[in-house]
Amino acid sequence: MSDKGKIKCELDSALVHSIELHLKKYHPSVSLEEYQRRFPSAPLLSEIAKDAIRKKRADKEAEKANAGARQPLTDLFGFPAASVTNSQGKIMDARVYDRSEFSADDLAWVPKIDPDYIFNIDLTKIALMALELNKPALFWGLHGTGKTTQWEQVCARTNRPFQRVQHTVNTEEAHITGQYIVVSEVTVGPDGKDHVHAVTKFNPGPLALAMKYGWVYCADEYDFGMPSVLAVYQPVMEGKPLIIKDAPPEWRVIEPHPNFRFVATGNTNGGGDETGLYQGTQIQNAANYSRFAVTKQVPYMDAKIEAAVVAGKSGIRMQEATKIVQYATEIRKSFSGGQISNTVSPRELINAALFGVVTGGNWREGLALAFANRLSPTDREVVDQYAQRLFG
Ligand SMILES: Nc1ncnc2c1ncn2[C@@H]1O[C@H](COP(=O)(O)OP(=O)(O)OP(=O)(O)O)[C@@H](O)[C@H]1O
Ligand SMILES: [Mg+2]
Repeated sequence: MSDKGKIKCELDSALVHSIELHLKKYHPSVSLEEYQRRFPSAPLLSEIAKDAIRKKRADKEAEKANAGARQPLTDLFGFPAASVTNSQGKIMDARVYDRSEFSADDLAWVPKIDPDYIFNIDLTKIALMALELNKPALFWGLHGTGKTTQWEQVCARTNRPFQRVQHTVNTEEAHITGQYIVVSEVTVGPDGKDHVHAVTKFNPGPLALAMKYGWVYCADEYDFGMPSVLAVYQPVMEGKPLIIKDAPPEWRVIEPHPNFRFVATGNTNGGGDETGLYQGTQIQNAANYSRFAVTKQVPYMDAKIEAAVVAGKSGIRMQEATKIVQYATEIRKSFSGGQISNTVSPRELINAALFGVVTGGNWREGLALAFANRLSPTDREVVDQYAQRLFG
């Protein structure tokens, strides 16, 4: 075995991972306490040994943590059996946490199920794989394709508490990890009256809370963050504890709870915006992005599924929803062909359908309000022609 990463025993210069084990075997007359007294600054464990101990502790905690029960994807998401049968002929399943074992706080973070959500089978399998294997995962792609809600709704169905955190160019490390804040405290003085004092208190950030209590942390709009700030996630994505140097002792080193997960979304894959649509996204650090074990581009839905989503969310008939999606397909084609400079997402189509209902079936007006009015005059003319052709 290589000596890389080992530490030196100050008694015989042997290279070892654990001084305690080495003393027991080769210097039984020297106790660990005595060794520490004689060589107070000498390390006792190599980094590898520390990692192994940490992993053992985490595995032990995992046994104690809410284990839930496994449920087939056919029941959980309504997928047809053939689409979720593995090569051994078994229907794939996923862990669903037991709500009765959660604290009220954990439960408050479990998202509500959206009954109209239509799960893309492949994307859902990838999301579940990342969650089950505890691998950091990034979904990226055009706006409104369902990246954030995919994570949210998978958590809703599997009862995972879900913490969504937006990133902006102004996001700082302290917003993520936690910071001292000033709060007022009331005490009763010797005069029997209430006295108000200003005291400082550490307010743990969303990452610290998610890691401590075992929630799914969704770093939303990841590519809006500054690369120097996003570096705070690197050790966390490697499964290491979060270290907040200035925090009080109970928040200084936060070991990841066995149920903690790290997922992210963005409009780009960190390599910069190639569409011209996503002002404010930053070109990111490749070493940071390399820590995502899973990266998946989320495309627009199949036309049929998108029509079902639009119909389900707005209550309009499939026939009308299909036409609205045809309009979107034309726009997306023109956008990728460079004829217009903007594209349309399911989010706008759902709004257009809702406005269309209110205006008594005036889909053209609905689409103008939800989308076309935002375009340049030339682009608006082009998309209005599509609308006229489809809706008259
Ligand atoms: N598969 C789906 N089933 C039902 N609704 C969906 C689906 N995908 C997206 N939607 C709806 O479309 C809208 C946009 O979804 P979402 O916010 O997840 O998109 P996003 O990809 O995260 O967008 P952005 O890049 O702007 O953050 C939401 O209202 C969501 O409910
Ligand atoms: Mg989103």
